[in-house]
Amino acid sequence: MWKDYEQAINEATNYLRDKKISPDIAVILGTGLGNAFIDKIKVVQTIPYNQVPHFPVSTVASHKGQWVYGTLNKKKVLVMQGRIHYYEGYSMQQVSLAVRVMKRLGVKYLLISNAAGNLNEGWQKGELMLLQDHINLQPDNPLRGSNLAHEGPRFPDMSSPYSKLLNDKLIAIASKQKVKLHQGVYAAVMGPNLETRAEYRYLHTIGADAVGMSTVPEVLVANHCGLPCCAVSVLTNDANYDKPRRVELKEIIEVAGRSEKNLTELYSELIKQLK
Ligand code: HPA
Repeated sequence: MWKDYEQAINEATNYLRDKKISPDIAVILGTGLGNAFIDKIKVVQTIPYNQVPHFPVSTVASHKGQWVYGTLNKKKVLVMQGRIHYYEGYSMQQVSLAVRVMKRLGVKYLLISNAAGNLNEGWQKGELMLLQDHINLQPDNPLRGSNLAHEGPRFPDMSSPYSKLLNDKLIAIASKQKVKLHQGVYAAVMGPNLETRAEYRYLHTIGADAVGMSTVPEVLVANHCGLPCCAVSVLTNDANYDKPRRVELKEIIEVAGRSEKNLTELYSELIKQLK
């Protein structure tokens, strides 16, 4: 951990500000997602994470590890191509540093995506789920430790962690684009192992529709600092409660890649509609 978290946030922010990065909207792209979305952007700059002071480097091969800054539908967007996960060994403060920096750069909305396991028997892998709520089962919390009181409260309210404005817009866009967009509850686990059959069954029993290893730390920090956010999961694999069936990263990436187009269309239309 840094001696001075505040200083780390400032130094990372100043580095990007000096490069004239002033986004309106930020996007975090999850596992196997990204190329189609990045192709839509008129890119002005790309900055590898390792050039930004204090910034962790994504160690997962399926995550690129760079900021992409440019315009999409006339809006200035800052995209994290590849995210940082807690299971990589980073602290929760490192995992969520980007969100603190986004807020300071003037970002007004944060759009998140991830790959997740499908726990809902009525749904199919390859489909999308809009997060209406979450269950945090990760063993640490980015808000633990001394509170950054000028950014937000000690005990942030979590009664609606996902922006109603963004979610309502996404539901309307999906219906217009004829893209199936389920709404449900995401359970965040630490990983990196995938779940046992008993764990999948347990997650389903406690009310989750999807399970993944990310997103919630970023959402907690976004809520803490008052940054409206939304998140969409690509359901990359079905949970198997009864018969053992192996889940491989290859399958997750392949399915994410196939659903990427739908997610890209949803998010680029949302960006167009945001003021
Ligand atoms: N479990 C946890 N994380 C995941 C899964 C899963 O089944 N699929 C994609 N990310």
